[in-house]
Amino acid sequence: MKIGIIGGGQLGKMMVAEAKKMGFYVAILDPTPNCPAHSMVDNHIVANFDDQEAIRQLAKECQVLTYEFEHIDVEVLLKLEKEGHRIYPTPKSLALIQNKYIQKQCLEKKHIPIPKFLQVQGTQDIEKAGEQWGYPLILKTCTGGYDGKGNAVIRNKNDIEQAYEQLGQGQFPLMVEEWIVFEKEISVLACRGTDGEVGIYPIGENDHQDNILVETKVPAQLPPSVEKKAKQLAKEVMEVFEGVGMFCVEMFVTKAGQVYINEVAPRPHNSGHYTIEGCITSQFEQHIRSICHLPLGDTTLHSPIVMRNLLGAEKEGKAVVKGMKEALAVPGLTLHIYGKEKVSLQRKMGHFTVQAMTLEEAVKQAREASVYIKVVGE
Ligand SMILES: Nc1ncnc2c1ncn2[C@@H]1O[C@H](COP(=O)(O)OP(=O)(O)OP(=O)(O)O)[C@@H](O)[C@H]1O
Ligand SMILES: [Mg+2]
Repeated sequence: MKIGIIGGGQLGKMMVAEAKKMGFYVAILDPTPNCPAHSMVDNHIVANFDDQEAIRQLAKECQVLTYEFEHIDVEVLLKLEKEGHRIYPTPKSLALIQNKYIQKQCLEKKHIPIPKFLQVQGTQDIEKAGEQWGYPLILKTCTGGYDGKGNAVIRNKNDIEQAYEQLGQGQFPLMVEEWIVFEKEISVLACRGTDGEVGIYPIGENDHQDNILVETKVPAQLPPSVEKKAKQLAKEVMEVFEGVGMFCVEMFVTKAGQVYINEVAPRPHNSGHYTIEGCITSQFEQHIRSICHLPLGDTTLHSPIVMRNLLGAEKEGKAVVKGMKEALAVPGLTLHIYGKEKVSLQRKMGHFTVQAMTLEEAVKQAREASVYIKVVGE
């Protein structure tokens, strides 16, 4: 099998590792010559992500095309698919998902619980939302957002102008959402094979700081009824988008046990990194299996596990890993360093997982390790 991946960042790298494990040929397209996946692939097309000719070249070279991020021009993928190239997740489902407003409309049509939302054409629409639902509100760019970068919280009417300005003053399509007072944020990783079979992973409980994921604990501590509901919703979401490949369904859980879908990512996800050590089949292997029309693997969890991200710290510069020796002495710890050459503050430079007999123990050890290990700029 010959697999082409658009993007050779950390997600691309971890996909490549699994594909190579199974003996497949892998080519990537990425503008950075020394991107994380570079040294592991059979071919690296160094080109920008919007270089249509380069994407075409990658498609021609491979039997199946996939991608590590959703901000891709769908038009070129649709054209390639029409010409007979296999692309997963399909350009059709990508088109529905990459625009958060369209994504929410699709979910709403199928009566899947989501926060109330409204398209924003000017500040008067935000005011209208505030009158209808009260504050806070959250303003979002419909496309291109990640790590909270396309979001602005509006605490009251006086924040509207500033939030609107912050997100480009209507230059980009915007939407506004009601604020969900959640108790927990969870992720349900799900994979759908080309035959419609769906594999659901144990649920992860996420902690964010400054809108960036810092820790995922698995299994999420949820009442059985909530767990069942969340998994059922993830299955329904997979049907809505006819997803092929790995998807992450981010959800909010309220104190009363209501579950809302926050957003859907059509790819392996940061909150699913725990599956590499934690489950029989990792999210990356599962993705490769499904896009290659192979049977899905077992999603069973071996033991409680915690994943923590290593975010760029101290200052910008050439990446240096500190405290590796101390961290690796922590029982049950596995370290992943992505190999990005440069550190910038809060950039995702790596992650580690800690497995233990109990979740409490894993959390304790992981927090201890995070004191030792840092990726800093030099
Ligand atoms: N309607 C909402 N109510 C309450 N909190 C929200 C709402 N929407 C988003 N948030 C908070 O903001 C965070 C980021 O929002 P969202 O997932 O839409 O952005 P993103 O930038 O696409 O995220 P990422 O790339 O980190 O997954 C969420 O994880 C959640 O903590
Ligand atoms: Mg999100």
